[in-house]
Amino acid sequence: MNIEQVKKNGIPKHVAVIMDGNGRWAQKQGSERILGHRQGVNSVRSIVEGAGELGIEFLTLYAFSTENWDRPKEEVSALMVLLIDAVVQEIDNMNEKNVRMLVIGDLCCFPSEVESKLKEAIESTSNNTGLNLILGLSYSGRWDILTAVRKISREIKSGNLEVGEVDEKFFESCLSTAGIPDPELLIRTSGEFRISNFLLWQVAYSEFYFSNILWPDFRKENLFEAIIDFQNRERRFGKTSEQIIS
Ligand code: FPP
Repeated sequence: MNIEQVKKNGIPKHVAVIMDGNGRWAQKQGSERILGHRQGVNSVRSIVEGAGELGIEFLTLYAFSTENWDRPKEEVSALMVLLIDAVVQEIDNMNEKNVRMLVIGDLCCFPSEVESKLKEAIESTSNNTGLNLILGLSYSGRWDILTAVRKISREIKSGNLEVGEVDEKFFESCLSTAGIPDPELLIRTSGEFRISNFLLWQVAYSEFYFSNILWPDFRKENLFEAIIDFQNRERRFGKTSEQIIS
């Protein structure tokens, strides 16, 4: 697939990706799992580039889930090192490509060095006006919803908020994705058909695209293919087909 095959009108504003299959990719090569993660960084670079070329406004990548903390200690540490190295190395490239980096997740769980490097990248790219690259780090959908519920409960308890004021719009403004439109398209690689506690609230009306390709082999051409597939779907939001057409 090449970019010319993607219709210019009908590009989703927000695409979210569950990058899966790094471990299996490495296993197939007879290598350590970390090699799959390392190779996965090249896939990240390729789809960030592709998303920028398409004019996608928001790209959210599930890079480290709340549950990933339970992986073997060596894998977690290796992933941390890889993450900082990749982020630090890509700052100039992101600035050159006008990419703004953001993070959603519980940043305080990270070693302080990781946290400060991430903040450095967020700060350095904060004035860029092209693609918003959102990294889900120590993120889970349930964590996001619970954090919002706690925040709202505190406001109600302190008398600053009425229960009746808590509608969908208000609730959304308390999530980590406040101000970011819901993803129209969610991609998951490696042939798994799960949501794995990703953006649970935000994917209420997302189209799902499952690819059998393992993340380290996923490239921007595969992203283009997913977008073309998305463009051929009819999104009804609970309405009838006739209502959508008229
Ligand atoms: C899932 O594959 C992948 C991860 C948990 C980590 C993703 C991280 C990267 C691609 C590298 C860093 C990212 C950025 C944004 C710089 P898996 O290990 O669950 O694979 P498996 O299901 O085959 O075991």
